[in-house]
Amino acid sequence: MERGQVAVLLLLLLSIQGLSAVRVLPSSNPAAAGDTLTLSLWPAADLKGGSWAIGDSLILTWLGDQQAVFPNHSGRVAVNVRTAALTLSSLTLEDSGVYAVHSSDPPLRANASITVLGETLYRGSSYRTTNASIQKPVLNVTLGTKQSRPLESSPVALTCSVSSGSSPSFLWFNGSSEVTAHHRVAFSDGNSTLTILNVSRYDGGPFRCFAFNPVSNGTSKPFVFTVIYGPDNVTLTVNDQHAAAASFVSGSNLTVRCSAQSGPPALLHWAFEGHFLNTTGPSLELVHVNQEQSGPYSCLAFNNETNRSNNITEYILITKSQATLLKLHVWLFPVMPWFGCLLSNV
Ligand SMILES: *[C@@H]1O[C@H](CO)[C@@H](O)[C@H](O)[C@H]1NC(C)=O
Ligand SMILES: *[C@@H]1O[C@H](CO)[C@@H](O)[C@H](O)[C@H]1NC(C)=O
Ligand SMILES: *[C@@H]1O[C@H](CO)[C@@H](O)[C@H](O)[C@H]1NC(C)=O
Ligand SMILES: *[C@@H]1O[C@H](CO)[C@@H](O)[C@H](O)[C@H]1NC(C)=O
Ligand SMILES: *[C@@H]1O[C@H](CO)[C@@H](O)[C@H](O)[C@H]1NC(C)=O
Ligand SMILES: *[C@@H]1O[C@H](CO)[C@@H](O)[C@H](O)[C@H]1NC(C)=O
Ligand SMILES: *[C@@H]1O[C@H](CO)[C@@H](O)[C@H](O)[C@H]1NC(C)=O
Ligand SMILES: *[C@@H]1O[C@H](CO)[C@@H](O)[C@H](O)[C@H]1NC(C)=O
Ligand SMILES: *[C@@H]1O[C@H](CO)[C@@H](O)[C@H](O)[C@H]1NC(C)=O
Ligand SMILES: *[C@@H]1O[C@H](CO)[C@@H](O)[C@H](O)[C@H]1NC(C)=O
Ligand SMILES: *[C@@H]1O[C@H](CO)[C@@H](O)[C@H](O)[C@H]1NC(C)=O
Ligand SMILES: *[C@@H]1O[C@H](CO)[C@@H](O)[C@H](O)[C@H]1NC(C)=O
Repeated sequence: MERGQVAVLLLLLLSIQGLSAVRVLPSSNPAAAGDTLTLSLWPAADLKGGSWAIGDSLILTWLGDQQAVFPNHSGRVAVNVRTAALTLSSLTLEDSGVYAVHSSDPPLRANASITVLGETLYRGSSYRTTNASIQKPVLNVTLGTKQSRPLESSPVALTCSVSSGSSPSFLWFNGSSEVTAHHRVAFSDGNSTLTILNVSRYDGGPFRCFAFNPVSNGTSKPFVFTVIYGPDNVTLTVNDQHAAAASFVSGSNLTVRCSAQSGPPALLHWAFEGHFLNTTGPSLELVHVNQEQSGPYSCLAFNNETNRSNNITEYILITKSQATLLKLHVWLFPVMPWFGCLLSNV
C-alpha cells in the first residue's frame, strides 16, 4: 500500500469515527528486556493532555507542553506531547502489563497488553516459531465475494483475506466512509466478513477492506458490485415537459422521452393506444403531429436479468395550430354569443 493511501485512511478514520476507536500500537510486542518500546496512538489523535498508566499505576501525565513522570518510571519514560506516544527505555521483565492511555479532552481510552521477554527467550528461535504473538506482517489483502451480481434486496457477503499476517484486524470502507454495523450490515469471523443483509442499488461502493496488525497493514483493491434491480420509477416527458401538464399544437415535432431506473438498463418499447410502435429505445420522435395523434402513449420497460417489466402511459393532447385558432377567433368575433359554445368543440 502506498503512503498516500495510508494517510487518507488515517484521516478518514479520524474524521468518521471520532476518537472512539483509537488503538495503542506497540513498536514491538513482545519486546525484549533492555530495549526501548514506543506505544503510539492509531489513528493519530490530537490530545491536549492525558495520562499513561500500567495496570493501576500511573506512569506520567501531561497537559499542553508540560509532563510529570511518577517516581516508579522517572528517568526512563517520556511522552511526545503532540502525538501522545509513550517511549519507555531500558525495559525489564516487570514492565510487562496492560498500558492504558486516558484523556478527557477529547475523551479517549485505549490500551494494549505488552509482554517483555528476557534477551535469550526473545532471540530464541524456539520462542519465535512457537509463540503466536510474534507478529508476521500482513500481505496481499484480498476482497472476495461469491455474489458479484446480486439481485437487489438479496444478502451478499464480502470476505477479506490475507495470504499471511499474524492475527490481523479488519476495517471496511464504502467509498470514503467506514462501514459500521447497522440494521443492514453485520460483521463476522473477526470482522473479516461483511454481510449486507439486503443489498440495494445504492450500495455501489467501491468497497475496500483494510487489514492491519501492530507491525503492518494493507488495503484491498476496490470492489464494485453490479446490483441487478428494476425497472421502476418509469417516467415519460414530451419535449422535456410532463405530458400530463401540457398540450401541443398540430404541426409541431415532439420528442417523447422515457426513463426507468434499472440495472442493467431496461429495454424500452413504445405503444400508442395499446398497440406497439416500431420504435425501441429511450426516445420516440413524432414529426409534424396532427390532432389524430392525440391519445395514450405507453413506454414499456423490461429488464432481461430481473425478468421484470414496468410501464407508464400518458395522454398526449394535440390541439389545432395557433394559426388555425387565431383565424377561428377572428372569424368568430361577430358571433361572440356562440363563442363559448363553439370553443368547446375546437
Ligand atoms: C510503584 O511500583 C510499586 C511496585 O511495582 C507499586 O506498588 C506502586 O503502586 C507504584 N507507585 C506508583 C506511584 O504507581
Ligand atoms: C482495555 O480496553 C478494553 C476495550 O477498550 C477494555 O474492555 C478493557 O477493560 C481495558 N483494560 C484495561 C486494563 O484498561
Ligand atoms: C494473494 O491472494 C490471492 C487469494 O488469496 C491469491 O490468489 C494470490 O496468488 C495471492 N498473491 C500473492 C502475490 O501472494
Ligand atoms: C430490503 O430493502 C427494501 C427496500 O430498501 C425493503 O423494501 C425490503 O423489505 C427489505 N427486505 C428485507 C428482507 O429486509
Ligand atoms: C470488529 O469491529 C468492531 C468495530 O467495528 C470492533 O469494536 C471489534 O472489536 C472488532 N472485532 C474484532 C474481533 O476485531
Ligand atoms: C454505501 O454508501 C452509499 C453511498 O453513501 C450508501 O447509500 C449505502 O447505503 C452504503 N452501503 C453500505 C452497505 O454501507
Ligand atoms: C501501515 O504501514 C505503513 C508502512 O507499510 C506504516 O507507515 C503505517 O504507519 C501503517 N499504518 C498503520 C495504521 O498501521
Ligand atoms: C423511485 O420510486 C420509489 C418508490 O417507488 C421512491 O421512493 C423513490 O424516491 C424514487 N426514486 C427516484 C429517484 O425517483
Ligand atoms: C420538424 O422536423 C422536420 C424534419 O426533421 C423539420 O423539417 C421541421 O422544420 C421541424 N418542424 C418544426 C416546427 O420544428
Ligand atoms: C420496423 O422497422 C424495421 C427497420 O427499422 C423495418 O425493417 C420493418 O419493416 C418495420 N416494421 C413495421 C411493421 O413497420
Ligand atoms: C439482455 O439484453 C442485452 C442487450 O440486449 C444482452 O446483451 C444480454 O445478453 C441480455 N441478457 C440476458 C440475460 O438475456
Ligand atoms: C402496465 O403495468 C400495469 C401495472 O402497473 C400492468 O397491469 C399492465 O399489464 C402493464 N401493461 C403492459 C402492456 O405490460
